[in-house]
Amino acid sequence: MRIGVTGGAGYIGSHIVQDLLEEGHEVVVIDNLSTANEANILNREGAGPAGYSFIEGDVGTDAGLAAFFAAGPLEVVFHFAAWKAAGESMTAPEKYSANNLRGTLRLIEGMLEHGCRDFIFSSSAAVYGEPQYLPIDEKHPKQPINYYGFTKLVIEQNLEWFARLRGLRFAALRYFNAAGYDLRGRVRGIERNPANLLPLLMDCAVGTRSEIQVFGQDYDTPDGTCLRDYIHVNDLSRAHILAMHAIRKNDESLTVNLGSEEELSVQQMLDVARKVTDKAIPQKNTERRPGDPPRLVASSALAREILDWRAEHSDPETLVQTMWDVYRDQS
Ligand code: WQD
Repeated sequence: MRIGVTGGAGYIGSHIVQDLLEEGHEVVVIDNLSTANEANILNREGAGPAGYSFIEGDVGTDAGLAAFFAAGPLEVVFHFAAWKAAGESMTAPEKYSANNLRGTLRLIEGMLEHGCRDFIFSSSAAVYGEPQYLPIDEKHPKQPINYYGFTKLVIEQNLEWFARLRGLRFAALRYFNAAGYDLRGRVRGIERNPANLLPLLMDCAVGTRSEIQVFGQDYDTPDGTCLRDYIHVNDLSRAHILAMHAIRKNDESLTVNLGSEEELSVQQMLDVARKVTDKAIPQKNTERRPGDPPRLVASSALAREILDWRAEHSDPETLVQTMWDVYRDQS
């Protein structure tokens, strides 16, 4: 099939592009390179893989949208081009309303104008907000506590309406904490200006950052630091491909959590990073970060049931080792 991937030079998108090419699809990538790494543009040094094309542009604009569909019909669109920093969304909401809301809605309208009705949407556990019970399943109340999570919820609700009124078929995939790099080393471009724990730990290990701040050590958890559900990007990518086939085969949309169902603390991740990298990674214990729940862990039972999917590579050593294999080579 001919498949469009927005944000396909970014961290998650570049992994899905590799898996789609390997499955034999034609892949059209559009990315404005605002946070992507040019190393993930597969034809930047001449001919890239067969069936791969890249457009530098912003899919939320009419020009970007026209370019995305100009080369021919797209049967499926995977949408990763969005801002994802929860903290930033509270100080710069306009950036998120423009891109995550207006841009995504314009993309959906454009898809339908061009006869494309299959949409794979990168959603987030942030739609849930403060956990009212754990593990979090898809029935958990959706009360986002940051504007980023709100933008993801608003798009999910619009997808339900476009499914009902225009026959759009979608898969909304609610990521918990994505981490790791491709087990086979096919993705080499590291994220620029990361905000998440693991890339920041890697920056410390390569020396581009002097220390890691540990936000809070007095939570009601075994070691006092926050617990999170980290999911390997290869596990995430496999779920996306399975979801694409599922909505087409079943002719119905789906919304599922994607998590490992394992809880790992900040201190545990820091200790694993020191062991894997053999670097000191100095830490500074600081105050709690506002908005951080003590624990976040997924139930992925629905993804197991609908997609026959489960996390297979999301243990802490694999998460950190696959990141270190990429960061170390670029240090
Ligand atoms: C993880 C833990 C921090 C940095 C966010 C989004 C969520 C999803 C994943 C997209 C927390 C602690 C972090 C640091 C630290 N994104 N930490 N020092 O906040 O769980 O989730 O990314 O879908 O929507 O909200 O991820 O990596 O920022 O933090 O102590 O320098 O690490 O307090 O407990 P988070 P994170």
